[in-house]
Amino acid sequence: MLPILLTSLAFLSVSVKSQITIVVNGTASHPIPSTLWGQMFEDISHSGDGGLYAELLQNRAFQMVDTTDQTTALNAWHSVNGAQLTVIEETVPVSSALPNALSVVIPSGSSGQVGVGNEGYFGIKVNSSDTYNASFFYRFPVASSFNGTATVGLQTSTGEFLGGINVTLSGSQTSWLQVNTTIQPTITPDSLTNNFTVTVDGAELAGQTINFAMFSLFPPTFKNRPNGMRIDIAETLSAMAPSFFRLPGGNNLEGQTVATRWQWNNTVGPLVDRPGRVGDWGYVNTDGLGIFEYLTWCEDLNMQAIMAVWSGFALGGTSIAEDDLGPYIQQAIDQINFAVGDPAESDAAALRASLGHPDPFPVVHVEIGNEDFFAADTYTYRWNQYITALQATFPNLSFLATSDTFNPILIPNPAEWDIHVYQTPSWFAENSFIYDGFERNGTHYFEGEYAAISTNSNDLFGTPADGRLTFPTMESSTGEAAFMTGLERNSDIVFAASYAPLLNHVVNSQWTPNLVSFDSGNVYPSTSYYVQQLFSLNRGDEYLPSTLPDADGTTFWSVVRKTSVVPNEIIIKVVNTVGAASNVTFQLPFSIEDTATVQLLTGAETDSNTPTAPSMVTPQHSSLVVGETFAYTAPGFSVSILTLITSA
Ligand code: AHR
Repeated sequence: MLPILLTSLAFLSVSVKSQITIVVNGTASHPIPSTLWGQMFEDISHSGDGGLYAELLQNRAFQMVDTTDQTTALNAWHSVNGAQLTVIEETVPVSSALPNALSVVIPSGSSGQVGVGNEGYFGIKVNSSDTYNASFFYRFPVASSFNGTATVGLQTSTGEFLGGINVTLSGSQTSWLQVNTTIQPTITPDSLTNNFTVTVDGAELAGQTINFAMFSLFPPTFKNRPNGMRIDIAETLSAMAPSFFRLPGGNNLEGQTVATRWQWNNTVGPLVDRPGRVGDWGYVNTDGLGIFEYLTWCEDLNMQAIMAVWSGFALGGTSIAEDDLGPYIQQAIDQINFAVGDPAESDAAALRASLGHPDPFPVVHVEIGNEDFFAADTYTYRWNQYITALQATFPNLSFLATSDTFNPILIPNPAEWDIHVYQTPSWFAENSFIYDGFERNGTHYFEGEYAAISTNSNDLFGTPADGRLTFPTMESSTGEAAFMTGLERNSDIVFAASYAPLLNHVVNSQWTPNLVSFDSGNVYPSTSYYVQQLFSLNRGDEYLPSTLPDADGTTFWSVVRKTSVVPNEIIIKVVNTVGAASNVTFQLPFSIEDTATVQLLTGAETDSNTPTAPSMVTPQHSSLVVGETFAYTAPGFSVSILTLITSA
């Protein structure tokens, strides 16, 4: 009788007091795309400047500041010992891209060390085991006979000197000269509220003026890349083993105005030639983290870049008339050529080669715009004009549409869509079947932004105080995990998915919750980070169908096989989205070794990893005795990864 009973249970979810029997089919339904789990990046909440990009000085080159408003023009800078600071429009700019400079007047009667300090991005971490690369340009607007030194150093906020070096300055230097040096601190302070300072002997230089431009201070970087990434953040992102990196936005691609849109060609070449731009998230982007740095970073982490091109619409509501799109489409073509073009045939590709990278970067999918459903009543997505030109120029690339799927109907029909959703944890669990209903007609999907951001559906876009989560919780993270089991099941049509936003500086945040938070010295991976990491590190290469979860239920699962290892692994993900434990029984159609490993992320509903409790919830490892039929209890609010080894 038993085999008959089992047959009749196959592919039915049987839930009796949280008892669920799951029958696994040994025949794969589809291969799982290697791109499935990755990262969505844009410069929001200082994800780039002050975050992943390792530059330590904020407002380092006075880019895009209004010199009629000295308070904002001097953002992050302060006077040391009475120096008079003014951001000026230089009569002789250091470069055409950087019109502004810092005028430092040493008042008559000065004594002691006098100069400027920069507080960094809400603090500077100083470590005596690190060597810091410091640089600045200077000139004396009025020549003098001064021949002496400036001290380039690091200090605590109370003025304790942490280390520095003397560099030579000459009063006869009336044209710009760059000073490059290194600082080896001798003290590691407890606090992060440290300053970078450049000071001179006030008595020697009393009454004189020195102009400075384009300061920079870098700690050691990830893989020692010049102009590279902050090591702790980079290592945290790398530990997710992402397969792709979406760049450069998000809204931050679009600009509030056409003039302030992200433009690849302004982000490449010497830093002194990058003007920066007013980003979409309330602060100036230095564009030090430019297209070359993004693409190099993708290579460093073995990721594809899912790269966006601007699509003719600025977030503030301006769009380019269809007949005037020519130069903008050409700029997109040049951007793509910079990434993948042939240096013999394209100036942009030749520029890439001149930077030491003749080979194309790993770009396969190019996104046209971002969320081009915004302002749909006043603006028509310029999909047709862009796709026609780009597909003709790059027949081997795939292009993603970003408006609402099939509303309006786009011509030609997009082969790929980027879909975004910010919702409640329960929405994600309830919609884990959303892609099961999508037609299999050759269209593929990128779930390019998703996150459970509030438990209150009426208040998804309020402030945190109104109900928006500040940090992911076990409730929000398990909701997302339930949804991800659905993405894995539907990975015949979903080729990529990424949580958003990725990074967040806790001191200057424009959006919550985020995957990874940080401050100037620490990184705080969230519970959702660990969910993403568990899914990414525990991929299969083919999907094994099993009894479907109950769409209205609270326990979700997916089963994959990893054939790239011998013996093959069967990886089962079990997600429990409520507080009561859930008992599941798996029935497998093949023999397995009798011990499985378990990776378990579990906590109370509101448990979060935060700066004050950064490791409240982390994955725990254990083992489980298993057989062809075995039981498992998924604790309340949990994600479990069961890895089984097949045997003959
Ligand atoms: O992830 C934050 C923002 O949400 C993105 O910039 C935008 O694409 C979406 O609206």
